[in-house]
Amino acid sequence: MKLKSRRLFLRVIIVAIASFFIFIWNRLTLELLKKDKLKTISFPFVKNKTISFEDDFIIVNQDETTIVFSAHCTHLGCKIDKTKDGKLVCPCHGSEYDLYGKILKGPAYKNLKSVDFRISHDGKNIIIEG
Ligand code: FES
Repeated sequence: MKLKSRRLFLRVIIVAIASFFIFIWNRLTLELLKKDKLKTISFPFVKNKTISFEDDFIIVNQDETTIVFSAHCTHLGCKIDKTKDGKLVCPCHGSEYDLYGKILKGPAYKNLKSVDFRISHDGKNIIIEG
């Protein structure tokens, strides 16, 4: 009986140590993958233009404010690349958003995702890190 419980104890210890190392290994590799995916994107900042479509982003300048959105529709992810009557319109199923990214017409039901950005020191570029 003692031998069985000793073996069981050793198995538990081995499994616990192996689990710990697997956990650490996963954490380290996930951190490395995240760092690889981080990239900095820079676009020309045209302050006089109300709406610019740049790569996967929509840049809106209005009321002395600049907002950057993901250009992917919140319905099924189609890339929004046009406006109609001052609204951002998804080409796939017709969802419409105002220039603050707020949903106006479905089938999408979520607002566009705003993106953190900064303007370069010389004021010529919008820089998105992510
Ligand atoms: S993907 Fe935009 S409305 Fe469906």
